[in-house]
Amino acid sequence: MKERFLVRGGARLEGAVKVSGAKNSVLKLMAAALLAEGTTTLTNCPEILDVPLMRDVLVGLGCEVTIEGDKVYITTPAQLSSDADFEAVRQFRASVCVLGPLTSRCGRAVVALPGGDAIGSRPLDMHQSGLEKMGATTRISHGAVVAEAPGRLRGATIKLDFPSVGATENILTAAVLAEGRTVLDNAAREPEIVDLCLMLRQMGAQISGEGTSTITIDGVDKLHPTSHEVVGDRIVAGTWAYAAVMTQGDITVGGINPAHLHLALEKLKSAGASVETYENGFRVRMDHRPKAVDYQTLPFPGFPTDLQPMAIGLSTIAEGVSVITENIFESRFRFVDELMRLGADANIDGHHVVLRGVEQLSSTSVWSSDIRAGAGLVLAALCADGVTEIHDVYHIDRGYPEFVEILSSLGADIKRVCD
Ligand code: UD1
Repeated sequence: MKERFLVRGGARLEGAVKVSGAKNSVLKLMAAALLAEGTTTLTNCPEILDVPLMRDVLVGLGCEVTIEGDKVYITTPAQLSSDADFEAVRQFRASVCVLGPLTSRCGRAVVALPGGDAIGSRPLDMHQSGLEKMGATTRISHGAVVAEAPGRLRGATIKLDFPSVGATENILTAAVLAEGRTVLDNAAREPEIVDLCLMLRQMGAQISGEGTSTITIDGVDKLHPTSHEVVGDRIVAGTWAYAAVMTQGDITVGGINPAHLHLALEKLKSAGASVETYENGFRVRMDHRPKAVDYQTLPFPGFPTDLQPMAIGLSTIAEGVSVITENIFESRFRFVDELMRLGADANIDGHHVVLRGVEQLSSTSVWSSDIRAGAGLVLAALCADGVTEIHDVYHIDRGYPEFVEILSSLGADIKRVCD
C-alpha cells in the first residue's frame, strides 16, 4: 500500500519533543551483538523499519531476536552462520556492518552487497583493505563480499584514506577479537562510533581513543553480552531544530547531547535563531525570516551530510544567497529538483548548489528519494502556501519514528493518507 503525506504550510511549530536512539547507531550495535554468545539487550531503540530489517539479518545468521517497544533482545548462539547472502541483507545498506563481527567470530563472512542507493555509490575498498591488513583475504564474488581468515585475525596498523564511518565500524568489530594490538588511524569520530566503542568496552573489549582520529584496540579472546542504551539521534534532533527555524517557531528537543550537533546549532545561530543548550537537550527559537548561511558537509565534527537536505530546505526560504557543498555523497542533490518544483531558486554545479532564498514556496506534489531528502521536503512543505503532497514516504519511515505524530504535536498540519 502506497502512503503519502499531505502537508498544509504556514503553521508555526512550537512545543517539546524527545528523540529516541540513533538509527545510525542501533543497527551497528545489533550487529556487534554477534560478537558474544548469550543475550544482549539494547534500550532506547528507535521504532523504525530498519530495526526489524536488521532483526531478519541476525535471525538469518542464527540469532534469536525479540523487539519489545524500544527494547531489542538478541541471543547469539555459539555457532553462527557466516553466510549473510540472502534477501534481508540486500535490502539495506547498513547490513554490511555484519562483515567485521562475522569475520572475527567465524573466520569467514559472505555478505550480500546492497549496491548503490539514491545518494551515491558505496564502495567497500577500505573495509576490505582493513580486514586484509589483519590477515584476511577478501573478494567480491557473485554479488557478495567474501572475507576469509585462515586462523585468528591479527592486530595491525591501519590508516584509512578517508574517515569512513562504515569502515571504522567493521575494522573495530574485527579487531576486538583479533590477536594483539590494532591501531586505526584517520578513524571516523562520529558519536555513533563512540557509542559502539562504549558498548564493545562493556562487553569486555579493550579500546581507547574513540572520538579521536586514532583508535587503539587490544584484542581479547572472548567477549560477553551486555545491556546498552543507544545514543540519541542527532539527525532527528537536528531535523526538529531546522523545522523550528524554518517555521519561525520554538522547539525544545530532549534526549540528545547538544555537543553532537554543535556545528548545526552554530549555523542556526548564524541564521538568526536563538539557541539554548542543556545537558541533555536544547531549545531553538526564531521570530523572523532566517538569514542565508553557507554549508559544507564533512565527517564529524563537520556539518553532517544527513542534515544537508534540512540545510538546503532552510536556504530555500532564507534571506540572501547560500552555497552548499556536499563532500561525502555525490548524488545527494537529486532531491533539489523536487524543491525547485516547490518554487526554490537553485543552481547545481557539481557538488555545489547555490540557493537564492524566496519569500514563499508554493505547494505541489513531490517525491522523496531517501530518508533525509524526504524529511527535507516535508520541512519545505511546512513553508509553502497550500497543501503539498509528499509521495514515497516509506523512505521517511525508515529513519524517523512517529514522524507525523510528532509534527502534529508541534502544531503542523500533516496527514498520512493511503492510496
Ligand atoms: C555515512 C556518513 C555518516 C552517516 C551515514 C548514513 C560521513 C563521513 N559518513 O556513513 O555520517 O551517518 O552515511 O547516511 O559523513 N568510501 C569509500 N570506500 C569505502 C568506504 C567509504 O570510498 O570503503 C567513501 C564513500 O563512498 C563516501 C565516503 O567514503 O563518499 C563516506 O563513507 P562512509 O562514512 O563509509 O559512509 P557511511 O558509513 O554510509
